[in-house]
Amino acid sequence: MLRVLVMVSGGGTNLQAILDRVADGTLKNVQIVRVLSNNPGVKALDRAAAAGVEGKVVCPKDYADRADFNRDWLAACDEVAPDLIVLAGCLVIQPAELIRRYAGKIINIHPALIPAFCGKGFYGLKPHEAALARGVKLTGATVHFVDEGTDTGPIILQKAVAVKNGDTPQILQRRVMEEAEWELLPQAIGLIAAGRVHIENGHVIIEEEDAE
Ligand code: GRF
Repeated sequence: MLRVLVMVSGGGTNLQAILDRVADGTLKNVQIVRVLSNNPGVKALDRAAAAGVEGKVVCPKDYADRADFNRDWLAACDEVAPDLIVLAGCLVIQPAELIRRYAGKIINIHPALIPAFCGKGFYGLKPHEAALARGVKLTGATVHFVDEGTDTGPIILQKAVAVKNGDTPQILQRRVMEEAEWELLPQAIGLIAAGRVHIENGHVIIEEEDAE
C-alpha cells in the first residue's frame, strides 16, 4: 500500500480527483493517509473529511518565525510516514529539509506544459494569463517531481489542451483542469504505486505495463 500525503491550500479539486479514483477502485494500492493544509477553513479540508481522510492545518500565520512553521510542517509529514507527498494546489514554499528528506517522493501538478509558463510567480491564473498573452494554441498540465527549484524537477506526465477563441484565463484554467489535471495527477500516483516510475539521469522513465 502506497501511503500518500496530499498537501493543499485551497479548493482541492485535484485532491477530489484523487479521492474519487481511490473510491472507485481505479487507484489501487493507494491510501490517502492525511491532507495537510496551510490554510484553515478551505474546501479541500471539507473534501478530505467527506472522504473520511484526516485533515490537518499548519498555518504560517500562527508562527512568528518561519523556521518554527517549517519544523511543524515537516513534522506533520513525518508523523504519517508517507511514501509519497502530492502537492495538489499547495502554495507553500516547501522547507529545504523536507525536499531533501523526501527526495524523489514529492510530486506536483503544474497547469502548463513545462518549461512553458512555469517557475517563480506562475501560480493560480498566471500561467493561463501568460499562455493567452503569448497566443499559444496548446497549453496543458505537467506532473513532475519536486526538487529545490520551482517547477524544475523531472517531468512524469504531460497532457496538451487546446486554447480556443474567446478564452479567458478562467475559462482556460477550467478546461486545463477538466481535460488534463484531474486525469494526470491520479494517473501519476497510480504509476508510482505500481512501481513503474524511475528517475534515470534526471529524467523519468515509465516502465511499460507487463503484458498479460
Ligand atoms: C491547479 O490549477 C493546480 O495545477 C495548481 O493549483 C491549482 C489547484 O486547484 N498547482 P485545486 O485546489 O486542486 O482545485
